[in-house]
Amino acid sequence: MVNSISFLLLLSLLAFAPFCHCNKKIAGYLYPQFYDGSCPRAQEIVKSIVSKAVAKEPRMAASLLRLHFHDCFVKGCDASLLLDSSGTIISEKRSNPNRDSARGFEVIDEITGGPSWDVPLGRRDSLGASINNNIPAPNNTFQTILTKFKLKGLDIVDLVALSGSHTIGDSRCTSFRQRLYNQTGNGKSDFTLDQKYAAQLRTRCPRSGGDQNLFVLDFVTPIKFDNFYYKNLLANKGLLNSDEVLLTKNQISADLVKKYAERNDLFFEQFAKSMVKMGNITPLTGSRGEIRKNCRKINS
Ligand code: HEM
Repeated sequence: MVNSISFLLLLSLLAFAPFCHCNKKIAGYLYPQFYDGSCPRAQEIVKSIVSKAVAKEPRMAASLLRLHFHDCFVKGCDASLLLDSSGTIISEKRSNPNRDSARGFEVIDEITGGPSWDVPLGRRDSLGASINNNIPAPNNTFQTILTKFKLKGLDIVDLVALSGSHTIGDSRCTSFRQRLYNQTGNGKSDFTLDQKYAAQLRTRCPRSGGDQNLFVLDFVTPIKFDNFYYKNLLANKGLLNSDEVLLTKNQISADLVKKYAERNDLFFEQFAKSMVKMGNITPLTGSRGEIRKNCRKINS
């Protein structure tokens, strides 16, 4: 029984190319039993690699979860994000949302708690990469973020539930600095952010410098996958502007934030559904794409 969030997301991310070169199935859709015949140990192998990586560094669960999001939002869930630059390929690792920020690639070269679900499998690897602007930025407006989700077939419920990923992992100072210093430069913070919390953040996220300093996204339970992300938002202690707007810019999303803050079970239930939906963004199936021998390079 699958019970690790990091395991699930890695399953979602990979077409298992490094583990199995034995997949000859033709299928036009993803399903959980995809590897049962062709590579029955696939889940076990992935689980053991991910468990070791997360035991060594708890943040790795968060970093892998984010890799899956950033892969799916660019050309679909096809491991395009894993390709290094070479020949005609400009690696997605160099694009703004990923540079100095996306991490965890080495786990793919080789937590317990949280929701669990059957992951539909059978994604194949892309033959190219694409640097584009589909991934929402932390300073985007609520409307822009929602539009970017809708373009991928995800709705407002998916947006609020998947943002709950920010219950684990870290952010660099550069991703939220603007909230700490207003434009007149008098040192006051964004009025939507709890002032005491903002003052604490300013000590390690100065007006200039310290760009790479790390801050936990959920300051109450930073490495536990739970609904404190939503509880923090209600206390005006959501770290990113894109988190805060879920509560302040739209009534429907605000109601969802309140619901998930009250009911962890409803959050987990929806999170699982939305992860499956995100993992279904235009995957390559059947004989499309390929199964890379090395995740970082297309087969030549
Ligand atoms: C709604 C729009 C979203 C925006 C604007 C956004 C933005 C960000 C930013 C700016 C960071 C910090 C990056 C850094 O400073 O290095 C971050 C971290 C993270 N995001 Fe999001 N995100 C969004 C949605 C999502 C979704 C849908 C997922 C997964 C399903 C996700 C998973 C994560 C995780 C797990 C981390 C921590 C990664 C780590 O510690 O390495 N985010 N996000």
